[in-house]
Amino acid sequence: MAIKIGIIKETANNETRVAVVPEIAKKLAASGAEFLIEKNAGRSAGYNDNNYPKVCAFQESRQDVLSGCNILLTVNPPNDKDITSLKENTIVIGFMNPFDNESLIKQMAKQNLVSFSVELIPRISRAQSMDALSSQASIAGYKAVVLAANHSNKFFPMLTTAAGTVRPSQVLVIGAGVAGLQAIATAKRLGSRVLAFDVRSSTKEQIESLGATFLDTGVSAEGDGGYARELTKEELKKQKEILVENIGQSDVVITTAAVPGKPAPKLIDKATVSKMMPGSVIIDLGAVSGGNCEVTKADETIDFEGVLVCGPTNLAATMPKHASELYSKNLANFLFPAIGENGLEIDWDDEIFTGSNLTNNGKVTFSPNGK
Ligand code: NAI
Repeated sequence: MAIKIGIIKETANNETRVAVVPEIAKKLAASGAEFLIEKNAGRSAGYNDNNYPKVCAFQESRQDVLSGCNILLTVNPPNDKDITSLKENTIVIGFMNPFDNESLIKQMAKQNLVSFSVELIPRISRAQSMDALSSQASIAGYKAVVLAANHSNKFFPMLTTAAGTVRPSQVLVIGAGVAGLQAIATAKRLGSRVLAFDVRSSTKEQIESLGATFLDTGVSAEGDGGYARELTKEELKKQKEILVENIGQSDVVITTAAVPGKPAPKLIDKATVSKMMPGSVIIDLGAVSGGNCEVTKADETIDFEGVLVCGPTNLAATMPKHASELYSKNLANFLFPAIGENGLEIDWDDEIFTGSNLTNNGKVTFSPNGK
């Protein structure tokens, strides 16, 4: 059966990205895929319909896209209404927010959809090119620093001027995963002094290789699959004590601490924010899952005793062109190995597909605690 990929206009709040950009549509078309695309689906990401290859058919009606495709590629989870418009056995791939989306997953199983969550693609070297969490988090890490520089009342770099020398800003990055490392690299490029820390001690070398200083709190919590485990109360307390002092001395704090499937660890309480100078900035990327800082409110900027606390939840959507370009490459790299002579042939022995699968054969295959 011919592969018919459906692309719809994303409807989530403030979403600007599109699942497939023209360049990737061309590559998938070269492997035999056809496309049904909702009119202007790529516009907010910086692409007009006429940028897409001729093999793409544009539809006024979203409904026609959904009912006509056999693979739906999305950025955000499809909504309830979208799901009911899809044919049985349609393959749906996107960010599905699986730890927080039980009813959607059940509905997809009921509808007999074969759904995959890009968040669950195992972080193994073979799947690096499919790692959408990383491609989008890297954008968030970069943009967090740009946002902080925009809000800050100081220069980032040291400047020597006729009026005297300006000292560089101090930036503290908490959590040195994908977003954190990109934030460190960006803050260094802007010339600030960067201090960073993570509970995985293996990040020390990575932090130092970017020219930043590793803040050693004496707490180490390496978990499975390259992720951190949740800290015990005692460990969190110990970590907090060392953090408090360093946060107070920082002009900018960027927090990216996360443990998959758990609420963001609360690392900065109100008393600690009070220790920062007025005009300092906190960018809390953990806002997506409750925030690393007690003051954070999702998608708001709070002025807390003169300290600006920002909780952006979708920074990738503020740079939709590159975000969509990278995301659609991730999706294509996920699909390519499965494209066979008779359409999509998923290898159910491959951990990339089994690990990211949410529903198949009318059943939920994902368990929030088990996978
Ligand atoms: P990641 O899993 O690569 O990195 C998270 C890091 O936090 C890991 O290195 C982990 O060891 C560390 N960590 C865990 N507990 C910690 C603790 N108690 N103290 C210090 N470090 C701790 O995740 P990634 O991709 O870098 O994303 C980071 C966060 O940013 C996640 O919460 C993610 O949801 C969020 N994010 C936010 C975006 C936004 O626009 N706001 C966009 C993309 C990601």
